[in-house]
Amino acid sequence: MLPTRERAEALLEEAEACNPGPWGNHSRTAAHCAEKIAQACGNLDPDKAYILGLLHDIGRKFGVRHLGHVSDGYSYMMSLGYDEAARICLTHSFHSQSMEDYIGKFDTTDQELALIQDRLAAITMDEYDRLIQLCDSLAGADGVLDMETRMEDVRRRYGSYPQDKWNRNLELKRYFEEKAGRNLYLVVEKETFHPSGEGTGRKPAQPPKEEKKLEKECGKNKCHAASGSEKDPLPKL
Ligand SMILES: [Fe+2]
Repeated sequence: MLPTRERAEALLEEAEACNPGPWGNHSRTAAHCAEKIAQACGNLDPDKAYILGLLHDIGRKFGVRHLGHVSDGYSYMMSLGYDEAARICLTHSFHSQSMEDYIGKFDTTDQELALIQDRLAAITMDEYDRLIQLCDSLAGADGVLDMETRMEDVRRRYGSYPQDKWNRNLELKRYFEEKAGRNLYLVVEKETFHPSGEGTGRKPAQPPKEEKKLEKECGKNKCHAASGSEKDPLPKL
């Protein structure tokens, strides 16, 4: 089950108010890319692709975490009954369904790690899982990025980038490019798209709300908008 586009957009705005950062617009760019590629491919549902792109990093609502954002997102979406979005919260970080795929800190509890491993092992990746993995690697906070530039940036910030994951990203790009029958950067309007909402009718992000209300809405005691602590960088892949 999935939320509507409008509900997904509202969930993202609410989450951004809990933990403001570039991840919000990164998610909007991923959603835009997913929708455009799905339209070009013909056999994928553009609405579903958009909603999945919008919600893949929704676990960041609960604070600045690395692997923890995966289990936070999965549990949050499952709590709302959105199992298809929950699945994407898991699969977007694991191209080969292996924990070795993850770039970043393993900052989960043992229980959260077990949840990720168990659920991931039970999934057979489909084209939507692959599509969001691809779009995650194309999506910047200010628009669509050159995939190799984005991977280089992650390699620079984290000190390494698994070669296997690098190759798989390029393979995904080739796969969807072939399906779409066009240069993928043209399909996703790389040169012109901006997630700020200019010209799209989308309202600009709301400023953080008062602390008490945020604590209630964020659901956990990790509201960085309220605490003013470290900000999320642009998420790694
Ligand atoms: Fe992401």
